[in-house]
Amino acid sequence: MEQTFIMIKPDGVQRGLVGEIISRFEKKGFYLKGLKLISVDRSFAERHYADLSAKPFFNGLVDYIISGPVVATIWEGKNVVTTGRKIIGATNPSDSAPGTIRGDFAVEIGRNVIHGSDSVESARKEIALWFPEAPVNWESSLHSWIYE
Ligand code: PPS
Repeated sequence: MEQTFIMIKPDGVQRGLVGEIISRFEKKGFYLKGLKLISVDRSFAERHYADLSAKPFFNGLVDYIISGPVVATIWEGKNVVTTGRKIIGATNPSDSAPGTIRGDFAVEIGRNVIHGSDSVESARKEIALWFPEAPVNWESSLHSWIYE
């Protein structure tokens, strides 16, 4: 089944939103397949955001991500990449609908609480970068209550 990489950014950790955010993905019916609290250095953050290196906000984004620990997670489920992005909400919290994570908990694009992979291919690369040890392999006993 499809997997995605979701990172709770330093502001989400500092503000005590970790449990709330994990709960939203769990309650939806996605399966947690990787989880760690981790501080990353500049070169690692630059690798994660390498596609954005030409953007004017790149250095500020990297400074933000290395400003404190983040929670790196892997989630698995049907259409989890696209649905995960919907749960997160629009990149700019000014445009994020209420009920989404950014719509409920963020104000500024530079403090938007959470990252989610934007495609299956990005998810594959990001999971490999953040979880070189591979996802945890387990099956939910509730699977048949979530999927036909
Ligand atoms: S872009 O310009 O279209 O490629 O950007 P976008 O896809 O909307 O966002 C990519 C990531 O860059 C972050 N971002 C910013 N951070 C700080 N300041 C500004 N102005 C800014 N604009 C975009 C945005 O939150 C995305 O980060 P992730 O971690 O992927 O959500």
